Amino acid sequence: MADAPPAIPTQFQIYNTYALDPPWQIHFTVAWTGLVAVLAAFSAPYLYRSIRSGRAWQGLGIWEDLYGKYYQPVNTVDEKGFPNHRRKSLSSSIGTAAKLRSFLFWTLPGLSLDLGQLIILVAYMAILVVCIVMRAPLTDNPNRAGFIALAQLPLVFAFATKNSILTLLLGQGYEKLNFIHRWGGRGMFLSATIHGSLWIRNHLIYNVQIIGSTKETLGVIAYALLGIIVLTSLKPVRQYAYQLFFFFHIVAVVTFFVVVNYHTPYSIPWIYPPIAFYGLDVLVRMLRYRIKDAVLDAPDNQMTIVKVENCDGGWIAGQHVRLRVFFSGRIFESHPLTILNAPSSVSCFSSTQRGSLVLGARVCGDWSKALNAHAMSDKEKSSARVVVMVDGPYGGSTIDAGEYEQALLVAGGSGATFTLGILDDLVGRIVKLGRKGGEKTTRIEFAWCIRSFGALFWFAPMLRDIATLAKDSSVQLHITVFVTCLCDPESVPSIPNCDVVIEKPSVMRMLEPLLSDSEGGGIALAVSGPESLTTEALNTVASLSLAQQRSTGGVAVHTEVFAL
Ligand SMILES: Cc1cc2nc3c(=O)[nH]c(=O)nc-3n(C[C@H](O)[C@H](O)[C@H](O)COP(=O)(O)OP(=O)(O)OC[C@H]3O[C@@H](n4cnc5c(N)ncnc54)[C@H](O)[C@@H]3O)c2cc1C
Ligand SMILES: NC(=O)c1ccc[n+]([C@@H]2O[C@H](COP(=O)([O-])OP(=O)(O)OC[C@H]3O[C@@H](n4cnc5c(N)ncnc54)[C@H](OP(=O)(O)O)[C@@H]3O)[C@@H](O)[C@H]2O)c1
Repeated sequence: MADAPPAIPTQFQIYNTYALDPPWQIHFTVAWTGLVAVLAAFSAPYLYRSIRSGRAWQGLGIWEDLYGKYYQPVNTVDEKGFPNHRRKSLSSSIGTAAKLRSFLFWTLPGLSLDLGQLIILVAYMAILVVCIVMRAPLTDNPNRAGFIALAQLPLVFAFATKNSILTLLLGQGYEKLNFIHRWGGRGMFLSATIHGSLWIRNHLIYNVQIIGSTKETLGVIAYALLGIIVLTSLKPVRQYAYQLFFFFHIVAVVTFFVVVNYHTPYSIPWIYPPIAFYGLDVLVRMLRYRIKDAVLDAPDNQMTIVKVENCDGGWIAGQHVRLRVFFSGRIFESHPLTILNAPSSVSCFSSTQRGSLVLGARVCGDWSKALNAHAMSDKEKSSARVVVMVDGPYGGSTIDAGEYEQALLVAGGSGATFTLGILDDLVGRIVKLGRKGGEKTTRIEFAWCIRSFGALFWFAPMLRDIATLAKDSSVQLHITVFVTCLCDPESVPSIPNCDVVIEKPSVMRMLEPLLSDSEGGGIALAVSGPESLTTEALNTVASLSLAQQRSTGGVAVHTEVFAL
């Protein structure tokens, strides 16, 4: 019998990258999907509550009530004397849970990421580094980093698409999960940098040509494309040249797929999931697109109110749509705008035509300026009819203010579109629908910070409608408008239970009266506007003591910054 060939000692074996590295792509995929499963388990109570209340199924797509079946006139079936108080023991355990959760809200000003998001990113980076370096002779053969760069494609796309199962499982809109997409992309760039730079070092040491041979040249082009994507996605570019960022994103991603496909055939299986995620997203969007007539109203040269007609339901307060307005050849641009009213069956608005979906677009850049100018083009009416394409709804509040005894809704500037929608929905459910869904709220404080008195007129008719309906009802609504700048003090419109003061308030000061009045039924805090305001709100809730959280029955917070 012939002897078995002698085994080659491990140190002399050639690292078989094509056999040993792909399993690490699988380890990486199992690890990140496992992390997503853990996060989904944490948000399961939210999913359960929203399925039970039916809110999970609303927002599937905007619909029109063709036969008038769902219309209910305002009939104020408000019910007084409802059971409101939670058992003390229950409210303190909810308060303890709220305190534990609130640690995750700590946010460093300017960082745009809270502690919870940072923990997710640190876990992600740890998985990434382990999968790149573990048992990999990177300096001799840096292919592992390249394999892991490819394995990040499904994650980057899963968190980029607007319609995905992840938003339902994690209880967050795409815009809130977008930070994982961004950091996944940066993780991919980091992996490609390790892969590319070590191969270049290797080539230089062994004097092998870099540019010239097909594989190397395509590798360098693929890396350059990733670099372009990462650089043109940085916050300043997104802020100051959004359309440029968007253009480079699409063109560079498609080119990257083609180039990387020729660079290595091992990329092919990792390109299918992104195409599938994107294809599904486009398909769902097709089903949710609606073409509607709309009226543009311009209360001044800073705000345009868009009233989209024949929209009777299919969204919940706080959600946003992506709006394409067919005017001045701008059909290729769609902009996210928050819906500022509840569907007509719930809404308190009597000054708006039934079946309207109302949006408010603050004038800031090219598109919003042109929209406002278009509305103003009829000098007499400051109003114009247009055709729009609505995509959505997306996102929305992660808390239902109706589950809390008190609600504090704070907005800065155009951020009021979000809090106004929440207010309209809450007061409508309490007063119009008579607390049919067991709404517990007895007190609502609505605070709006604006830079000039003139801004009050943007939403004054809507606020008046809501405040009039809430007057003498079982919910006590109080509105405070904080004017933070002493410019153009014009006449202030009359709105029931509304104070207008000239000051810049702190979130803690606004929250304190609710904390001291709480009877253990919990407080919902919804804040929308500039990042400084939302960061302050998150840090305020994080700084509440355990005793405060327990005695109030928990302070839940949701913030919106209107930025991707
Ligand atoms: C989820 C969400 C909800 C929003 N709700 C409202 C609202 O109710 N009312 C309101 O006035 N504004 C809202 N915004 C902001 C609004 O989308 C931008 O002000 C608008 O797109 C500005 O376009 P522009 O060309 O006039 O200004 P630009 O100067 O081009 O942009 C101003 C800012 O808007 C962002 N932006 C521009 N175009 C887009 C786009 N197509 N998609 C995403 N962001 C873009 C840019 O990053 C920049 O920071 C919301 C944004 C988001 C992300
Ligand atoms: N307008 C835009 O260019 C634009 C574009 C896209 C998205 N957004 C987003 O839309 C939201 C509102 O923007 P806007 O331009 O409509 O608002 P705005 O006119 O700038 O008004 C914001 C108001 O909130 C106040 N404020 C800011 N930080 C505060 C804090 N910590 N506490 C209390 N009050 C505070 C401001 O006070 P001061 O006067 O003291 O600052 C101001 O009165 C923001 O989320 C912004 O990021 C704006």
